[in-house]
Amino acid sequence: MDKIRMKVNGEWAEFDLTIDFQSSDSLAYVLKEKMGLTGLKVACDEGACGACTIIKDGRAVLSCMLLAVEADGCEIQTIEGLATDDPVVKAFADQCEPGYGTAMQCGYCTPGFVMASKALLNEIPNPTDEQITEKLSGNLCRCGTYPAVRRAVLKAAALKTNQ
Ligand code: FES
Ligand code: FES
Repeated sequence: MDKIRMKVNGEWAEFDLTIDFQSSDSLAYVLKEKMGLTGLKVACDEGACGACTIIKDGRAVLSCMLLAVEADGCEIQTIEGLATDDPVVKAFADQCEPGYGTAMQCGYCTPGFVMASKALLNEIPNPTDEQITEKLSGNLCRCGTYPAVRRAVLKAAALKTNQ
């Protein structure tokens, strides 16, 4: 394989092995450094925090734990690919307003939570508390915004239902 192609946020992109990336480079590296998609965060770079979560072929994945070559032919969605009126984006934005208990303090974990929540709601439109806990268990927030994140997910589910 001397090049890879992937559909990122609706547009096909092509990368040459050894010119654009090395075979050992992660998908996170290519998305951030080669495409400028800096919404995803590489915090731990070892699969422990969820800050680098993106959606690959409909499923939430840790982009630091995937090689770029593993994304060849795949459909990738990053937070930049979500519309501003996306129910998940809207719910998280609302949940960051004063008085609501914020789902975003430093914000470093937020893109990962948004993408994990997006994948969760695509799979389970009206999740239970237990399902939210399970599906977001790979995402860590050192600022402790977990209760507000849960409220944002429930709000996004309600918004989707009413769309
Ligand atoms: S940066 Fe990928 S899981 Fe932490
Ligand atoms: S808001 Fe700071 S790590 Fe989650």
